[in-house]
Amino acid sequence: MPFSFSQPSPSGALLLLLVSSLLLWENVASGPLSSNETDGYPLSTNGLFHNAMRLTWNIKNLNMELRRTYTVNQVSEKLYENYMLDFIEDMEYLVKALTCCHNYSIKTPENLEEAQQIPFNEFPKLILSRMWAWNETSKILLTTLRSIPGMHDDVISLAKNIETKLAELFVYIQSLLNKIYGTTTGNVEYTVFSGLEDLKSSDEEFSLFDLCKFSYCLRVDIHMVELYLKLLECVVYVSSDVCLSKNIRDAS
Ligand SMILES: *[C@@H]1O[C@H](CO)[C@@H](O)[C@H](O)[C@H]1NC(C)=O
Ligand SMILES: *[C@@H]1O[C@H](CO)[C@@H](O)[C@H](O)[C@H]1NC(C)=O
Ligand SMILES: *[C@@H]1O[C@H](CO)[C@@H](O)[C@H](O)[C@H]1NC(C)=O
Repeated sequence: MPFSFSQPSPSGALLLLLVSSLLLWENVASGPLSSNETDGYPLSTNGLFHNAMRLTWNIKNLNMELRRTYTVNQVSEKLYENYMLDFIEDMEYLVKALTCCHNYSIKTPENLEEAQQIPFNEFPKLILSRMWAWNETSKILLTTLRSIPGMHDDVISLAKNIETKLAELFVYIQSLLNKIYGTTTGNVEYTVFSGLEDLKSSDEEFSLFDLCKFSYCLRVDIHMVELYLKLLECVVYVSSDVCLSKNIRDAS
């Protein structure tokens, strides 16, 4: 069933919700979007959205748990006692200041204001490039963790779980974007993630920093994917409850 971008009446609630940005995108994406009815995906668009959102939620929780479990199991008492309190507080700032995540050509929007600067027809490239990047990077993390002698099993199983969930999310998102945009092939930018080499370092501050870097970069990108899923959902179901709530702005 093709989605059409009927002009919504600019009711107060809608304007409130769309924060003017979707109306902008709508001009870009006017006209019906194609969809391939023979693509054979068993799930409805609604189901795809639902599953994708559930997975981003899972991945965010697993990511937090990974950082916690790593810190508890791999960081020595000495580092913990000497540095940890200051270190943890500063870590976020440090990672943010020092970190290049993937070398995407378009910087990851971090909030709705930044997200709305991206034209609607650039969404697939933005999202698929992140999904491809994390599908690969999570495998590298897992391989690296497994190669480290004495790595705690819980850390490895969390990394494995994150890898699996990311691959699943990638599949749902590909299906969704194909349904909404028609075809999205060729829309992926292949990027590299530098870092994770120090995870093997014998200096535990370096290895902790790399783990935090992975966790930070994943968090930023998954947050972005989640934001765009919500925006896409609003475009597809213009009057859905999701869009009429303040969810989107609260999430950004
Ligand atoms: C729909 O999908 C089928 C199978 O993947 C493909 O052969 C066909 O070209 C697609 N049609 C359109 C209009 O994209
Ligand atoms: C990122 O770096 C890799 C390797 O240097 C390169 O092949 C790729 O084109 C770069 N991507 C972007 C978007 O700059
Ligand atoms: C994502 O990773 C999985 C394995 O983790 C792999 O089977 C799949 O082909 C990857 N997807 C893409 C599009 O590269």
